[in-house]
Order: sequence, then C-alpha cells, then structure tokens
Amino acid sequence: MKRYHDIVGDGGSRILEQVAERHNRITDGLAGVRHLVAVGSGKGGVGKSTLTLHLAGALRAMGLRIAILDADFNGPSQARMAGVQGALFVPGSHKVALPRTRNGIAVFSMGSVIPESEALEFESQAHGESHTWRATREFALLGEILESFEWGALDVLMFDLPPGAERTVQYAEFLEPRTSFLLVTIPSEVARGVVARSVAALSKGPNRLLGYVENMSGYYCRDCNAIKPLFVSPRPFDAARSKPSGLEIPCLGSVPFDPELARHCDLGIPFEEPPDTPVGRALEQIAQRLLDGLEQTAEPHQ
Ligand SMILES: Nc1ncnc2c1ncn2[C@@H]1O[C@H](COP(=O)(O)OP(=O)(O)OP(=O)(O)O)[C@@H](O)[C@H]1O
Ligand SMILES: [Mg+2]
Repeated sequence: MKRYHDIVGDGGSRILEQVAERHNRITDGLAGVRHLVAVGSGKGGVGKSTLTLHLAGALRAMGLRIAILDADFNGPSQARMAGVQGALFVPGSHKVALPRTRNGIAVFSMGSVIPESEALEFESQAHGESHTWRATREFALLGEILESFEWGALDVLMFDLPPGAERTVQYAEFLEPRTSFLLVTIPSEVARGVVARSVAALSKGPNRLLGYVENMSGYYCRDCNAIKPLFVSPRPFDAARSKPSGLEIPCLGSVPFDPELARHCDLGIPFEEPPDTPVGRALEQIAQRLLDGLEQTAEPHQ
C-alpha cells in the first residue's frame, strides 16, 4: 500500500498545471468585465439576493451593462426573483449565452437549471462523505460556471453570495483581490454581530470592502407614505454619521422593507426602473455610491 510519503510531487495528476490552466481560462473569460462586486453578509435572510437584483436594476437603469452570478448554488434565489426560472441555455458566439431579465440583466442561477423540488447534490466516492468534498466541489463548480458562460463586455458583474461568514472569506479568496465586497445587514444586533465577523475576516485579506447597506431599515407603509419602525435596535443611532453604529466600514445607505418589493421578488418581475418611492430612491442612491466607490478603485482592470 502506498503511504502519503511515497507520493512524489503531485503524484502524476498535473493538478497544479490544471489549476493554473483553469485560472487562466477564468481570467480570459472575465477580461471584458470592468468591476466585480460580491454581495455578502455572513448572515442569512437579510436581503443579499434582493439587493443584488435591485441594485443591478438601478445600475442597469443608468445604462450600465450588468450581469449577476448567483453563487448560492443550493439556495438559489435569482432565477425566481429575476424571472429566469425556465430560461433556456443556448450557444453564444464562443461559449454558452446567459439568460437575461426583461430589463437586460444577464443572470446565471442554479435555479434556472435545477427545479425547486430538487437539491443540488455534491456526491463523493465514499457514501456519507459528501461533506469532505463539499467546498472543493462548490468552488470547482463556480470555476466551471465562470469559464463556461459568455460574460462578454460588462460594467459590473455582481456575485450573490450564500450566507456564512466563513464561506464569505472563501469566496473572497477564490474570486481574488479584483473582487470588491458589499455587505448587507439589518438593524438587529443578531445580524450586526455576524456581519461584524465577516468584516473582521475580510479585513485580513486584500479584497476591497466598499461598505455596507442596512436593509429592512424601517417599514415603508404605502398607505400613509411613511417609514415606520421595524426593528428597534438597542444600539444608539450615530446621528453624526447618520448610520447605525457598530460596523466600521462606510454605510452606503439604508433600504426600508417594502411589501411591494417582496411581491416583485416572488413574482419574478424586476422593476423596469427604481420606483419613485423611498425604496426606489434609496436603491438609486446606493447604486450611485457603489459605482463611485468602484470607480475610485486604485487599479481599474481596464
Ligand atoms: N427591503 C425589502 N423589502 C421587502 N422585502 C424584502 C426586502 N429585503 C428582502 N426582502 C424579502 O426578504 C426575503 C429574504 O431576502 P433575500 O432572499 O434577498 O435574503 P438573502 O440574504 O439573500 O437570504 P439567503 O441568506 O438565504 O441567501 C425575501 O423574500 C425578499 O423578497
Ligand atoms: Mg440569497
């Protein structure tokens, strides 16, 4: 029986060359993308997917070329929210073309490939050992998606990340320093605590932290056209910086909870343009700040 010490080099697998070749293919495929932005949090259910899609919509309404890669492979939301659940994948000029929303945002989501009644399985050779391979398989899949689809010329490619502070860092490492991060939180101490961990973990790496958005900051009542309290945070509001204290990165803005926004997400009908409501105006403002932050990046790719 061979022992670990008997294996010389890569054991003849060419694994290092294969990884380098894949890396080059991904880099080539993303050569026309000006900015890469990962929308994460660490905390689940705070509105990462909702904000990814609607900030993408606000950027699209400014005339930018936008794509979304839903990197939440086993909890994909973008297919339903963006209305590309039954999308067909057709050949493009070189690779596979991406389905588009009605307002022209290109979207890849596992939800277009696997119906909601099924789960994505990461099988392993040994029965009951899928957890051993899970992260490896997940990132191999992300690599395959990045190299197989036609991303083309884009202003912004947005990654909708799954929850988990630890996974957020793994995505940062995989997506490399070129990818900037936008974090999402809600006005609750439970969420803030987890997002603070993501900030701490990401701050150790080279990826740029553009800031955070506070989602579900109040409830937008359409009947009275007013924002009402939703969460009552025990943390004092920092009036000087007009942001909730606690996360030591810039606040790009806050978005109230709007039942109409949730309804649009469920129906899979993205807004053609941000609506003329406090929510729509907040999305527009955050999208502009996001863009300003990206344009200030020291070394733009192109
Ligand atoms: N500002 C908002 N107004 C109304 N509904 C919202 C808002 N933000 C999020 N939602 C709704 O809350 C739910 C959770 O949002 P979403 O799926 O975007 O969270 P998430 O952080 O992506 O979750 P996960 O961690 O599972 O990926 C969805 O039904 C979404 O439509
Ligand atoms: Mg999500």
